[in-house]
Order: sequence, then structure tokens, then C-alpha cells
Amino acid sequence: MLGSLKWIYKVICTKVNPIKNDILLLQAFIRDYFRYRETSLCHNEPFRRDKMNARMMLVGHSIEKGMSFESKKKNWGKEKVLQLCKMIVAYMQEYPVSEEVINCLNIINAYRLDDESCKSSEVTDCIDSILEQYHDYIQEGYAGVKDVIKPDSFDINTILSFYKSRASVRSFSEEPLTQMEIEKVMEVARTTPTACNRQTSRVYAITNRAKIDEILNLQLGGQGWADRASTMFIITGCMSCFGGIFERQQVYIDGGLFAMNFVMGLHLYGIASCFKMFVRDYQLQDKVCKLCGIPRNEVPIVIVMAGHYKNTTVKDPISHRFDYKVNIVS
Ligand SMILES: Cc1cc2nc3c(=O)[nH]c(=O)nc-3n(C[C@H](O)[C@H](O)[C@H](O)COP(=O)(O)O)c2cc1C
Repeated sequence: MLGSLKWIYKVICTKVNPIKNDILLLQAFIRDYFRYRETSLCHNEPFRRDKMNARMMLVGHSIEKGMSFESKKKNWGKEKVLQLCKMIVAYMQEYPVSEEVINCLNIINAYRLDDESCKSSEVTDCIDSILEQYHDYIQEGYAGVKDVIKPDSFDINTILSFYKSRASVRSFSEEPLTQMEIEKVMEVARTTPTACNRQTSRVYAITNRAKIDEILNLQLGGQGWADRASTMFIITGCMSCFGGIFERQQVYIDGGLFAMNFVMGLHLYGIASCFKMFVRDYQLQDKVCKLCGIPRNEVPIVIVMAGHYKNTTVKDPISHRFDYKVNIVS
């Protein structure tokens, strides 16, 4: 009897479990496919507003990049700037002004001032009529080109010690983070570059103890440390900023870069933090998003648990780094 039970258990482990895992993996891919298809730029609806903003940023960025080229063709960018003007008008007919629109208004203004830009009446009339209507949003130096030179040498030792002194801290004091501290950290995080400057990351700060615990319970629990943090940050990426087949993973790249700078911002201001992997199970994900008011077109990238340091020294894993070698490709 015991022998046959052992045999059945062995069959389940060796034959049934791998098949079950394969099916679950396939299910996850299918869900990802439908979610991406619905929320990304593959289709105009739903999340029309976010998608319109993202499309404007794409065209706007391409024009802004055009302005920076050393050699430009006379009348460059005509089609794109006309397209952007149309997009701005269409957006403003449906929605109130957004940061994306303000950015694009300033881009068309800078384009107008570019020596080589198209000065045909079709283009200038179109730009002028928009700028006349929205001139309040135009600010000098907001868009266009800037001068970049090799920076003065930094205090390398200080900066190296800044990077090397960051560690995942899993022990916190009870003192809460202030709004001012969070804003200062965001100033660092917003320096993160994004694909075509689409600025796709969003941050949710949860300070309510009961809510933090509720979310942790949906994310494999506190694991002996996470429930001690005074603040939980969830960093998400807006999927409606991405489109096409080859951009389907880009949200995680932009979000990961942002999250790292966010954590470096915390470190800069003496705030302890540790990443916590977001468990990408659709049902759990949807529950967490509902609790935090995260819309369906935003993908949670990672959780960052944070709080002030304790006054005492705490233990932390060494987390030894390998001697990464660059693979020189000849
Ligand atoms: C994306 C990501 C997810 C992580 N998730 C967890 C986690 O769920 N639990 C945990 O204790 N640490 C987590 N960590 C922290 C890592 O264990 C830690 O960064 C790594 O060991 C290097 O150590 P250091 O951060 O102290 O340099 C995560 C780190 C990253 C970058």
C-alpha cells in the first residue's frame, strides 16, 4: 500500500507537475497577450486618452530629436509637425490639457523657431493658430534643444561611496516618511530616461498600515521584514504608452530603470529601502491594483518597502557581487 502511494507520488512529481506547469505558463502567456492587446497602442480603445497622449509624445519627441541634428535638410519635419498639430487639436477637443500636450505645444513652438524648419504657410498657419490659442502654456527653454558639454570632473570617491553604500535594508524605525521627503526622492527618479521620452512610470505610496498588510498578504506576506516598513511604494508602468510587437517588454525596462533611480533617491536622502518582487499572478495582481486604485493599463513593476533607519546598526546580507566581465565582441 505504502509502496503504491509512493509510486503515485513519484509519477505526479515527475510527469504530472511539469505538464501542469507548462499549461500554467501557457495560460500566463495568453493572458499577457490579451492584456497587451487591450491596453497597449495596438488599438486606439480603451484607454484612449492615455494612448493619445503617448502618440503625441512619440511624434513630439521625434521632432525634438530632429532639431538637435547637426545637419538638417531645409524644410525638414513638415509632415510630422502637421501630424502633431492635428493630434493636439483632436486631443484638446476631447480632454483637458495634459503635460504631454504642454510638452508638444512647446515642441511645435521650438520647431517654428528652428532655422531649417518648414516655413510654408500650411505649416506656419497651423502652428500659429494653435499657439495663439494656447500661448499661456509656452515657456522658454521648455522644449527644443539644450547645450550639452562634458561635465566638470566629479568627486569620484564620494560618488562611488554613494553607490557602494546603498544596501537593501530590511529593518526600519517607526518614524513615517514625510511628503516632502517623497517629493525630493521623486526629483531624482524623474531624471530617469525613458524610451522616446514617454515617461511611463507611476508611483503609488501606501502608508496605511492595514492596507500595507493587506497588500503584503497578496504578495507572499511580510517574509519577516516587509511588514516593518512605514511606507510601501508600488512602481508601475503605463502599458498604453507602448505599441507594436517589439515594444511588448519595454514597460518593464523603463520601469526597472525608474525603480533603480527611485531607490537611489531614497538612499540620497538617508531613507532605508528594499525592493520586493511583485508576484505576477493575474488574480493577485488585479486585487492589489484594485486596493490601490491602479488602472488596468498600468503594470506593477516592483514594490519598494521603505522607512527611516533605526538608530542602531542592523545586520544585512553581504550579497557578494561577482566579478562581472564585459564580453568583448570583436
Ligand atoms: C527586482 C528586485 C526584487 C527583489 N525582491 C526581493 C524580495 O522579494 N525580498 C527580499 O528580501 N529582497 C528582495 N530584493 C533584494 C535583493 O535580494 C538584493 O537587492 C540583492 O541581494 C542585492 O543586495 P543589496 O540590495 O543589499 O545590494 C529584490 C531586489 C530586486 C532588484
